[in-house]
This record gives sequence, structure tokens and C-alpha cells, in this order.
Amino acid sequence: MRHLITLADLKSSEVERIFAISEDLKSKFEQGLREPLLPGRVMALLFEKPSLRTRVSFEAAITHLGGNAMFLGDDVGWNNGRESLADFGRVLSQYVDVIVMRTKLHQSVLDLAKFADCPVINGLTDLDHPCQALADIFTMREVFGSLAGLKLTFVGDGNNVARALARCCGKVGMKFHLATPPGYEFDAKFVASLKQDVPQLELTMDNDPGRAVRDAQCIYTDVWTSMGQESEMEARRKIFAPFQVNAKLMAQAPADAIFMHCLPARRGEEVTDDVIDGPQSRVVQEAANRMHAQKGVLAWLLRRS
Ligand code: CP
Ligand code: NVA
Repeated sequence: MRHLITLADLKSSEVERIFAISEDLKSKFEQGLREPLLPGRVMALLFEKPSLRTRVSFEAAITHLGGNAMFLGDDVGWNNGRESLADFGRVLSQYVDVIVMRTKLHQSVLDLAKFADCPVINGLTDLDHPCQALADIFTMREVFGSLAGLKLTFVGDGNNVARALARCCGKVGMKFHLATPPGYEFDAKFVASLKQDVPQLELTMDNDPGRAVRDAQCIYTDVWTSMGQESEMEARRKIFAPFQVNAKLMAQAPADAIFMHCLPARRGEEVTDDVIDGPQSRVVQEAANRMHAQKGVLAWLLRRS
């Protein structure tokens, strides 16, 4: 049974295969074709946090592929003591072909996957967001034609999105640079897991956004306060202020560098309007690609199981 809980679950060749399927399905979609590769397949979505992009793009993706989605609320009794997670996972996976989960704790996805008899996909946890990174790197593949040797610089918090991007860069031969305030870099345990999974990754971490963007093809940022960290918001606003992606920072990057953000954005905090709405921004293409990249993931995962 294959799951997608982190990109460590995929080999480089499998990432490339998923991109090839995504590219094919996207081009057919743009010609008005919705190839029913997964007729009758059923997806369950279990979300502990809000979502626009992940939820809707997954529901649309499975529908276009000829399947169906069920967004399950609290009433199914997941993680609230009604029954054990083991019983819940074993039973739910008798009815559905794939489960997409967004949870507060990464461990919850790992726990359910242990008992599920169908693939489980991580739709964001506190530690990872693999589907986001796949869509982002797929977007860079569209923009630049090829990926090897490109550099993505992430300015801001070394959070779930940054971690997924670093791993994805490693899988496709890209370089990754993380510019954070001191103390917000990747932790030693995560760096060790990257070294094991993607030893070829050129990873740089420092605290100087100007230097970090100088030779990057993509400048990426995300919110300073992720879901679940709301009590730290005021403190983080002050700590991260020098890490705002604004016109002055973009001017230090190569002229053909693009700007990306996973969204939702807090405009005026991590990014200014002129950058996110400016000519270098690819955020709408990037958000659209969530659906196309996830079609690649679904077709790849479900047609092999
Ligand atoms: N980027 C992303 O995952 O957006 P949602 O939180 O709206 O799903
Ligand atoms: N880092 C953000 C990403 C939202 C898509 C969060 O976890 O809230």
C-alpha cells in the first residue's frame, strides 16, 4: 500500500512520472477533455483545519477523473472518542478508495495510514504539505521548461510548506535556500532526514534575505503565523518584519525570477500587494496547478493499487 504523507514516500522517478501525468491531464483539460481515468473511485476528505485550495482542488480533481468526493464532518466520529482510530481507519477504508487528511498533528495522518486499507494523502499537517510542493515545483517546470540546477529561495518561516519544498527540490535536482529570522530555520532532526532522503540537495540556511534571493529563480514566501500558531501572531509580526517580500527585496533577485506563495496570504505582512499582484507573481497559476498536480497524484496512486 502506497501513501503520500511526505515526499520521502516518492522516489525522484515517481515525482517525474506524476508530473508527466499531471502535464498530460492539464493539457487535455485545457482542450475541454476530462479523461475518466478513475471511474467510480471514491475519495474521503477529513479536515481539522480550514481549506479552500486543498479541499476544492481535490474534490474537483476526482470528479473530473470520473470519481466522487465525500467531505466528512465531525459527525462521522473521527478523533473525538466515538471509536478508536484503528476501528475508524479500518472501516472507512472499506468504503472509499483514497483518504485525504488535513490534521493539526502530523502523527494523526501517520496513525490513520497505519490502519487504512487504502492510500492516505496528506493535505497539510503542522510538519508537511507535500501536495503543495508538488504543485509548486510543477509550476516551475512549466515556467522554466526544466528544473535541474534552478534555485528556490524561501523567505520567512521554516514551516510545513518550506519543509515540503526543500524535499521536493532535492527530488528534482534543484537547490533550496531558506532565509529565516534566527531560530526559525529547519531543526536538526529534519535536516538529518533530508540528508538521508535527498543527499544530493544543495541546502543553504541563513538569516539574510537579500543575499538569499540574489541568484534564485523563484522567491517564495508563506504566512508568518501558520494555522494553530495564532497565539504567537503578535510576536511573529515583529520578528519576521525584516523578512517581508517587497519590491526592494525583489529588486535584489534576478530580473526573470518569479514570485510564489502557497496562499492564503496576509497581504502587507509577508508580501506586499505590488509583489503578489505584480508581473513576476505566479500565484494564480500555482493555485490552479494544485488541481492538476493532484490529478497526477491520484491517477498514479490509484491506478497502481
Ligand atoms: N495552499 C493551501 O493549502 O491552501 P488551503 O489552506 O486553502 O487549502
Ligand atoms: N503554513 C501555512 C500554510 C497554509 C496553506 C499553515 O500551515 O497555516
